[in-house]
Amino acid sequence: MVKTQENVFLINTDNLSYVFHVDKIGLILHDYFGNKIDLVDFDVHALRVKPNVGKGTSSVYDSEKSPDLSMDAIPLEFSFPHKGDYRTTPILLKNEKFGYVFDFKFEKFETREPKPLEGLPTPHDANEELVLFLKDEKANVVIELHYLVFEKENVIARNVVVVNESELELSILKALSYQLDLVNKEFELTTLAGSWASEMNQQTQLLVEGKYSIESRTGFSSARFNPFFMLKERKATLNYGEVYSFNLIYSGNHLEEIELNHNSLVRVEAGINPFCFDIKLQKGEKFETPYAVLTYSDKGINGARLNMHHFTNNHVIPSQWNNTIRPVVINNWEATYFNFNESKLLALAKDAKKFGAELLVLDDGWFGARNHDRAGLGDYSVNKKKLPGGLKGLSKKLHKKGLKFGLWFEPESVNEDSDCFRAHPDWIIKCVDRKPSPSRNQFHLDLTKREVQDYIIENVSNTLKSAEIEFVKWDMNRNMSDITFNDFEPGEFYHRYILGLYRILSELTKMFPNVLFEGCASGGNRFDLGILSYFPQIWASDDTDGLARQVIQSGYYLGYPLSTISAHVSSSPSHQLLRSTPIDTRFNVAMFGVLGFELLFNELNKYEQKRSLKLIEVYKKYREIFQFGDFYELETYSDNYRKWEVLSKDKKLCLVGYHLTIQKLLAPEGIINTTGLLEDKKYKVGVVELDHNIKDFGGLVNIITPFHVNPNGWLVNVLSKYKTMGGEKDNYTVYGNVLNNGGLILNPEWSASGLNDGVRVMKDFGSRLYVIELDETN
Ligand code: DGJ
Repeated sequence: MVKTQENVFLINTDNLSYVFHVDKIGLILHDYFGNKIDLVDFDVHALRVKPNVGKGTSSVYDSEKSPDLSMDAIPLEFSFPHKGDYRTTPILLKNEKFGYVFDFKFEKFETREPKPLEGLPTPHDANEELVLFLKDEKANVVIELHYLVFEKENVIARNVVVVNESELELSILKALSYQLDLVNKEFELTTLAGSWASEMNQQTQLLVEGKYSIESRTGFSSARFNPFFMLKERKATLNYGEVYSFNLIYSGNHLEEIELNHNSLVRVEAGINPFCFDIKLQKGEKFETPYAVLTYSDKGINGARLNMHHFTNNHVIPSQWNNTIRPVVINNWEATYFNFNESKLLALAKDAKKFGAELLVLDDGWFGARNHDRAGLGDYSVNKKKLPGGLKGLSKKLHKKGLKFGLWFEPESVNEDSDCFRAHPDWIIKCVDRKPSPSRNQFHLDLTKREVQDYIIENVSNTLKSAEIEFVKWDMNRNMSDITFNDFEPGEFYHRYILGLYRILSELTKMFPNVLFEGCASGGNRFDLGILSYFPQIWASDDTDGLARQVIQSGYYLGYPLSTISAHVSSSPSHQLLRSTPIDTRFNVAMFGVLGFELLFNELNKYEQKRSLKLIEVYKKYREIFQFGDFYELETYSDNYRKWEVLSKDKKLCLVGYHLTIQKLLAPEGIINTTGLLEDKKYKVGVVELDHNIKDFGGLVNIITPFHVNPNGWLVNVLSKYKTMGGEKDNYTVYGNVLNNGGLILNPEWSASGLNDGVRVMKDFGSRLYVIELDETN
């Protein structure tokens, strides 16, 4: 809810307040962003930073009317350079008369029914919109500050619009989406850095005086730095303390700047990267920046995380997918790569159906001359050698087997060796008179061109109409290079590409509202809220290794809900790292997301097959909670463990994934702790039933055999196919407050001990799933 009184503005959500006011010379001063508060007569004096401005300093004052107010020393809601603020600012403009010097003062405000942006994704169903209008009277330029309020999720989305009302052309050299000035509380900054198949590594550092920035210049949001970041007071933990988190609803080049100045003020700002950015506005034209997302919680990292998760599920992903259960897919990529045909796919489908898959996704290689990554991209004609009955034939056969059908596309690029390139060599992004640089043997199509956008819309939609197709995987496998320009300024290219992409995605998802679109960019090279505004889930990483994925998914969980994270069980050793991880681990990790498969089931050993049948049942039983429950990362007492929790909305059911890295003798930690259970209710705790593989015990098998057997010999091999060893039983009934505060202590891990049901045989990279259910006899 937005409340105003005279010059003071107060935005309240269920749990937070955001306050600013207009001062006597028309600057907008930021006062507060934190837990919900009341203001006595809207007097913000108590909240206001009282700068210590000694005479004779070199500070520059905004005006004679305000000699005590240097823009450098106060928290501002919006700032600009050359009038005394020497910090980084969200805006840099230029015109022929004033050069770089602009001076914006408050003009008016309005509250209104939220309106979507033109061409950029806008979070839907906001409660309210507040718009402040700032004007440079002399230059005739207006800045609009927009605030969308999401009360239940405790999120404010902000953007900036620049309007040129002057006869003079206006250059926008930098236009970020917001600025937030906070008083420093020994903040630590967490960013998410990575690369292909190693996305979302969390990096945390203490802010010191100076400016820190992350950015992408690859043309896309990129795996190098995700646009999400988080600031927390130093003492904040997973469940306690003040945490701010931020994201951007944009898929192109972005910049995030965090600056701590000598006055202990922290400036936070983010938006489109000003790298090669120069937008020209003529009289009457406006430029809209993408929405950024801001949230706060005093309930630690988990509190801020939940706000972001709820917001994304309820207001970013297309409404028809809110809380809609996602299917278990079998994707043929790691199972066959390019080497498939209809009969191989049908055999895979038959097995997949047995193991609980509901939809087969046919990945790269179904069209044109695409038998490897050197040809065919850009074409849409079905490869009849591989699929003699076409997509329609395959789809029919799959449906007959009880499976739905999904199809891979990579519409934004072409191979040089493709019919599309031969017919339209001028459609790729290339700079005049220069040879464009390839990546994975492909070039980007120039999506700033309307006819290219139409070519993609037409071909994808015709393909989707040609057979019963319920799922699309939309891939994009290279970074941008050789940017060009046609009838517009080169400084507009990167942004115009993204606008072209959004037009295509918007048209196609409107045309096929029931098709589930999954984004992908070699995994997480474009995992952002812009893409999620059209596609409700994204393939999170090409690394499907059971341990590596824990790190990757933990990074995603900071900003993105589990329903958006596509995660597949693959074979072991993993194709990416050649590391072997137990089948339980691969399942337990993929369950905390949208679980699918990416393997040949007939190449799993008998033990893995048996466990897979059991574990897919478990996943399906709890699928709704895994996809849409409240997620918490749990405290661990050493880096050797990782614990994830999902909790049903009614708090009756809680699932804890307990992951171990390296097994140690007399391991210290065996604790199940939780967050958010009903404190005064009893819960039953149990581990998902286990069965150990005889082969895991090596030579120890001789302890139970009457004669010596070779642990690698035929007898153990045969035995292991039919016999398992049973597993630990860890069952308890405890009050929620025991689990929430400190937790319960599990049976010991195997430490040269004998096997019985009081010993947890975790092994390296082991994992358990604990089911915690409200005891209905409470
Ligand atoms: C990259 C994706 O991340 C993979 O899952 C797969 O679809 C390949 N592209 C296909 O080329």
